[in-house]
Amino acid sequence: MLRLQKTTCIASLVLTAIAVSGSPAANAHTPAKPAEVSKPWPQQAVRGVHGMVATDQTLGSQVGVDIMKRGGNAVDAAVATAFALAVVEPAAGNIGGGGFMVIRLADGKTAFFDYREVAPGKATRDMYIGKDGKLDEVAPVIGYHSVAVPGTVAGLELALKTYGTMKLADVMAPAIRLAEDGFTVSAKLALELEEERPGLKNFQASKRIFLNGGKMWKAGDTLKQAELAATLKRIARNGAAEFYRGETAQMLVSEMSKNGGLVSLEDLANYKVKVRGVLHAKYDSGGHSWEVLTAPPPSSGGVAVIEALNMLQGVPLKGWDDPQSVHMVAETMQRVFADRAAYLADPDFSDVPVAGLTAPCYAKERAATIDPENASSSTKVKAGDPRACGSSSSNASVSQTIVGLGGGRHTTHFSVVDAAGNAVASTYTLNASYGSHVTCSAGFLLNDEMDDFTTQPGVPNSLYGLMQSDANAIAPGHRPLSSMTPTILLRDGKLSFVTGSPGGPMIISATLLSVINWMRLGNAINAPRFHHQWLPDRILMESEFPAALESALNARGHHTKRLARIGLVNAIGIDPQTGERLGAADPRDEGAAVGY
Ligand code: DON
Repeated sequence: MLRLQKTTCIASLVLTAIAVSGSPAANAHTPAKPAEVSKPWPQQAVRGVHGMVATDQTLGSQVGVDIMKRGGNAVDAAVATAFALAVVEPAAGNIGGGGFMVIRLADGKTAFFDYREVAPGKATRDMYIGKDGKLDEVAPVIGYHSVAVPGTVAGLELALKTYGTMKLADVMAPAIRLAEDGFTVSAKLALELEEERPGLKNFQASKRIFLNGGKMWKAGDTLKQAELAATLKRIARNGAAEFYRGETAQMLVSEMSKNGGLVSLEDLANYKVKVRGVLHAKYDSGGHSWEVLTAPPPSSGGVAVIEALNMLQGVPLKGWDDPQSVHMVAETMQRVFADRAAYLADPDFSDVPVAGLTAPCYAKERAATIDPENASSSTKVKAGDPRACGSSSSNASVSQTIVGLGGGRHTTHFSVVDAAGNAVASTYTLNASYGSHVTCSAGFLLNDEMDDFTTQPGVPNSLYGLMQSDANAIAPGHRPLSSMTPTILLRDGKLSFVTGSPGGPMIISATLLSVINWMRLGNAINAPRFHHQWLPDRILMESEFPAALESALNARGHHTKRLARIGLVNAIGIDPQTGERLGAADPRDEGAAVGY
């Protein structure tokens, strides 16, 4: 129970089945710890009467809780947490990347803040293709050329201005302190930096800050980030304008131009956060009416989750130790990912058929193509035709794309609920762990989000092996397609669950499974996860699934492969009886839910 000792408040209820009554599968599976996790998995949620923050990092969660204790709401806490994670979780917490935030206020208002990065003005469709016609596999991922225009600072400022109650300087103060005074390097961070050494050592500021000048950080050392502290102070004083038009912009662009990066002063000055409507869907399950509030495009995740939930309406699901249940969900994922590959892209530049893909009648057509006994071959599963809902959905003449194995190590999701019932689900990222591995002289790591574009039509992108449609090709000002899926669930009109995950394409599966678990099965976070992304044609399964289950799936014709872990879901549920907040940081890593 190591994790629980780190938290301020310990729940007496198990993580499982808070929202579910009478489900035979609730608590049915208590997974063994995966090989790389060296501590017991907690069986209990962290319980808080007032507010809760669940993140990858105890320090980040504590910052959010402190803000709420000082009277801030969930949005104040989320913005403070995001800035703090940019200091204490350098792999993914960021001001040099981008992300999404789903907000649902206690009065029922909802909003989606899209602060995804955009391609620089000088970016071109073929910028990563060499003279030999081959895709350069390094340039979209490492170094200055992989960097898209960051959105995080603008997004956090706008979310705070729109729905927060505190001043930017106040919510940034804890992050500034953590950067200036430093924080204790954990064994995990020391190991992670060692693993990232080959990438980080090539960039002077990265080597100096994150590799301790080459001497490396040990667990117990104090990591101070003076340049980052100075940058955060300038932003706290002058707002996001500092990042996009001030000294920080000058520092960033001067390095970009010296090192072959494309991001210009004009790109930064032109960056716009998009406030979009959340995607919304309704379901009846277990005698309750459920609403799902999730991420619209340029996320592919919200559309995929809703389409999958629609397809699984009325499909009996007993639990993840039941081959039939896994079969039905894997077949659903396979079809949803085929649609993702064909249709999803930046909605500001492409006609994404969101209404069709999320329509119940379309889901019915898609579900009808599933054989309840046997695996479908991915060569036979094609994207459907969501524009023709009501007629045939199979094998429509849309351009087909292939999705390869995905899921790097980082991106981070955190969830916040305050005492009034305001809720924030936030996923933000540098793309790869430590992004481009470039730290600019202003002290922050830069993203490598350019690799989320279709870097060469017909060829997998470098990080996730994703082959995506032409609509996701690189073009100035376009947002690359994302899988990030911050999601909020309501039960009978009341806040019930806040969820999301990192994991590249596996974000979608991890989030979907957490939602299904919460609505229908229990064991929302600890339950083992699996993932099918159409191509390659196989189910990825976490290591703790029993061998007999894998054999039963193989007998149905499924190819399977084991993976140590899928996703990192930091979630908050609401106890329907008491209204208490139930925090769960994913036991697959070292996060913490902190409540009060
Ligand atoms: O936006 C996306 O879909 C990706 N850039 C997310 C990357 C990710 O989740 C990596 N880590 N686990």
